[in-house]
Amino acid sequence: MRIADKNYQSIWVHEEDPSIIQVIDQRYLPFQLKIKNLQTPEDVVHAISDMIVRGAPLIGVTAAFGVYLAVLKFRNLENANQLIQEAANIIKASRPTAVNLSFAVNKQLEVINKIEKPDEKLNISFKTAVQLMQDEILACKKIGNFGKSILEQIALKKNGEAVNILTHCNAGWLATVDYGTATSPIYMAHNQRIPVHVWVDETRPRNQGARLTSWELGKHGVPHTIIVDNAGGHLMQTGKVDIVIVGSDRTALNGDTANKIGTYLKALAARDNNIPFYIALPVSTIDRSLEKGLKHIPIEERSVEEIHYMEGLNSQNKLERIRITPENSKALNYGFDVTPARLITGLITNHGICKATSNDIKQLLQAQ
Ligand code: MRU
Repeated sequence: MRIADKNYQSIWVHEEDPSIIQVIDQRYLPFQLKIKNLQTPEDVVHAISDMIVRGAPLIGVTAAFGVYLAVLKFRNLENANQLIQEAANIIKASRPTAVNLSFAVNKQLEVINKIEKPDEKLNISFKTAVQLMQDEILACKKIGNFGKSILEQIALKKNGEAVNILTHCNAGWLATVDYGTATSPIYMAHNQRIPVHVWVDETRPRNQGARLTSWELGKHGVPHTIIVDNAGGHLMQTGKVDIVIVGSDRTALNGDTANKIGTYLKALAARDNNIPFYIALPVSTIDRSLEKGLKHIPIEERSVEEIHYMEGLNSQNKLERIRITPENSKALNYGFDVTPARLITGLITNHGICKATSNDIKQLLQAQ
């Protein structure tokens, strides 16, 4: 997507040096656009766990490059296979909920382990990571085209008034490689002059909505309004939301979906108000080993510092971190919740739109 007059992805290979993987450091947005170089598997683990990169598809692609960087580092050592495997295990453990992480690392190991020669290993691991990156871009483009048709249908009934979409967290191009999942149908609709307006949940405590989704929508000229996380129910009750579209970190085979904490409450409010609630995801976010999601998807618990402190620009335009809670109060910081399939109207995937049921999802996967 474009920032000013330049096209960006959230991750790419350095133009002149393929041993450097470059990412947008998302910790500084929307205040500063900083590019970070990743050159070792340790850099990748830090980037994922510290949320320099975040969002399920982007975590997966970064992890794939992490395995490539491990091959680059260890390939000529006597115990290369063991060291690469150990690095892959550490990368896999860097965040627990997004299934794209293990999907990408396993894919890399599958191809690397078949090859003996160090330089061939390097070559194939590079190609695999690049392929995964391209696949995610294409998947998001397809999600956009399928999802746009839903927005078109709603627009037809609104006589030129904007379609109001509510989204939670950042399932935009920053969370994928390009286009986004939940945002892709919105960008496609906007590009075709279908009037859209997005309600952006701020998404405490990391504020991915307020900081990232609003930034990307703004750069693309999409009308949007930031709301506090608890406003969605009221907006739905008062007829101001036509559809909810969110992303997924892991969807089980029955459609249960883990996404950023608070998604479940939005789904409940949408159901109570008869508002369609869609999950947009590439099929790489479907966990084929999990029949049910509820109580089975691992839910990340993050540092309570994220709750106790907030970050923003001070009056001197400098990034500042301030404490917002009493010194001795305890806090608890779950990063995700699981929305049961029964509350989900449908899944918008790169293979088409389907119901959030075991039958439909299995059929969709078989049709690949
Ligand atoms: O903790 P984050 O910022 O990695 O969480 C991201 C989300 O929950 C996204 O909605 C999800 O990964 C889908 S991204 C296309």
